[in-house]
Amino acid sequence: MSFTDTCDVKDIELKSLLEKRIAPILDEINDTTMKEKVRVFWVDSVIPYFITLDTIDQEIRKGSMEPTEATDDVIRATNATLEEGDKIEALLDNPTLIKKIKDTFRISGASYGLQSDFVRHAFEKPGGYPGDYETLEFIYNNKPTSKGFGYCADEAFLANDYAKAVRNRKDTMKKLLLSHLRKDPKESSILNIACGASRDLRELFSENEINLTGQVTFTLIDKSKDALNFSRDQLSNPPQGIDFRFLNHSVYDYLKNPDYYRDILGKQDIVYSIGLADYIPEKGFRDLVGFFYSLLNPGGQLIIAHKDSKHYHPLTPDWWADWSFHLRDIDDVIGIAKSSGIEHFDLTIEQEDDTNIIFFMTIQKKSA
Ligand SMILES: C[S@@+](CC[C@H](N)C(=O)[O-])C[C@H]1O[C@@H](n2cnc3c(N)ncnc32)[C@H](O)[C@@H]1O
Repeated sequence: MSFTDTCDVKDIELKSLLEKRIAPILDEINDTTMKEKVRVFWVDSVIPYFITLDTIDQEIRKGSMEPTEATDDVIRATNATLEEGDKIEALLDNPTLIKKIKDTFRISGASYGLQSDFVRHAFEKPGGYPGDYETLEFIYNNKPTSKGFGYCADEAFLANDYAKAVRNRKDTMKKLLLSHLRKDPKESSILNIACGASRDLRELFSENEINLTGQVTFTLIDKSKDALNFSRDQLSNPPQGIDFRFLNHSVYDYLKNPDYYRDILGKQDIVYSIGLADYIPEKGFRDLVGFFYSLLNPGGQLIIAHKDSKHYHPLTPDWWADWSFHLRDIDDVIGIAKSSGIEHFDLTIEQEDDTNIIFFMTIQKKSA
């Protein structure tokens, strides 16, 4: 048997296994047009995709291909397949069924995807939720850590527009904070909601000379003790005039007992949050805008970063790692803020530069 014959036999076996996996899902679909569309998606897009990944995986294992050479093919094939998957999701408009299709997709891709430290972490969610501080550190470090096919999967995630936007978001936040610190406020309080690994602050302080004559207090909150401990450790040597409070809170605590937490948090000049709002359902988000706004001093700013659903659909994180967000656009977020009961404010939107995936909403409390 020749090398080509061996590949063909292996591909036929994989094709047949993948066809068996989708069969029970197809059986559940009564509408024949829909059934056919799902079948065609699986047979024409998903199966050739996994055969491509499998071939690349084998070539890398044999040493006949370097992971760096294969990365572009993996990214191209992934994007093309998931765009078809997205169309099927829109057509089906059936969350239960689409969940089964995505679960089957992930099971089918596990032997390739889980070779990536990043995909494994994002998929397994050791903290119980997606987007923990370690996931973000990987995106910020922007360096593949996995071997073999895992390298290609690491790269596919790091090169994804979402990862680029996350890095840009952090850079935009650094600029906003730097401009505040450059004013050398006499006394100022800044609250960072869901600080994670505080990469924005770490880079801000290491890259810039901060000369304060006054005192700036940063209060960092996160529901993850590990994230807070990591941040505390990394920020142990702040510039002159800066001090930190680290508080292990969940933002949902604020909604249950607002007065109690208002006392603990105290008045703030800036309240900001990057990387949390997209995970919060609409009602909670609305109530939190009201709560955070109530903490502001006159002239203070509430700054919230949010993904713009007009420019972003999180296909790779969703299909590969079951990592999804509440999709909203600028008008949705402005609408939520304006219906939160807050008064006497100016609201501005700043689009994050490069990818336009993320925007910043700033709500400034008018001075009395
Ligand atoms: C995507 S990370 C963003 C971290 C950081 N702000 C950044 O941009 O690098 C999300 C963070 O939100 C935290 N988080 C998730 N749900 C939370 C909640 N209900 N209350 C407080 N923090 C939460 C997670 O622990 C994680 O550190």
